[in-house]
Amino acid sequence: MAVNEWEQLKLHLDKWVEECRETSAAGKVAEYIPELSKAKPDMLGIHILDAKGRSISAGEAQDSFTMQSISKVFTLILALMDHGESAVFSKVGMEPTGDHFNSIMKLELVQPAIPFNPLINAGAIVVSSMIKGENAEAKSARILAFFRELAGNPNLEYDMQVYISESKTAHLNRSIAYFLLDKGVLGCGVDEVLDIYFRHCAIKVCCADLARMALVLAFDGKDPLTGKTLIPRRYVQIAKTFMVTCGMYNGSGEFAIEAGLPAKSGVSGGILTLVPGRYGIGVVGPALNSKGNSIAGVQLIERLSQTLDWSLF
Ligand code: DON
Repeated sequence: MAVNEWEQLKLHLDKWVEECRETSAAGKVAEYIPELSKAKPDMLGIHILDAKGRSISAGEAQDSFTMQSISKVFTLILALMDHGESAVFSKVGMEPTGDHFNSIMKLELVQPAIPFNPLINAGAIVVSSMIKGENAEAKSARILAFFRELAGNPNLEYDMQVYISESKTAHLNRSIAYFLLDKGVLGCGVDEVLDIYFRHCAIKVCCADLARMALVLAFDGKDPLTGKTLIPRRYVQIAKTFMVTCGMYNGSGEFAIEAGLPAKSGVSGGILTLVPGRYGIGVVGPALNSKGNSIAGVQLIERLSQTLDWSLF
């Protein structure tokens, strides 16, 4: 019963967070974006939000971090709302890769040369190039406004230090973008698309922001706290399916078995996940496992799901 479950969460969440925090020692904070290396490796926080607006949090849930790849779920949704399914999926595929998030290995293996899915870097860069707007600034402004609405937080902003840090060092993403430009898959120029992409990756959030965005997905596009429909149901269905099949990259299969929930990770250690029809959940733990997912965050979500029987499968 939901009431008992909430009581259980209130009773045990602090303890579960402290136990999972210990796993952080086996992970590593991302360093390839230099600014991310400043994160506290043993940080772990979680915020769970339900449709009545009740929330429960534990650990460093108030601390902020950048969305990184979590943003890719919502830029995909915005591109779908801008252009519809057939236009978007003529430029990006629907299949998992089994590779690391920034791998370029499979790009040359398919004809036409479109990225395998919208959650790997190559796919997300294509999606960013599809967002409507006169120029990079206007496109980024639309993305930020959409994210603010989903999070119910008009104060969401970019972390400019992370944005600059990634802009200066993203040689691999730059090479991916040039490859895509050469293949005619990009909807705009390389500098323009990378600026849009780095900006949405650098949007600063806390666990409560992620939980609120996840809650909208958990309720099929309707924000249960305002009653407003923000996303068409079909696009939420597409986004949640990608989260299950590709949201944790080459760790998605194991996560589906152990947690059984749609989820999306980012290299700053954030994870957005949800229990359909029930909760939106935001987690952060910057120490990552070998797949680029928060090591303690994954363990915490798997533990919650197994203890409270949340798996969809
Ligand atoms: O493009 C990058 O490398 C980062 N801005 C985002 C990558 C990311 O978050 C992958 N997630 N695990």
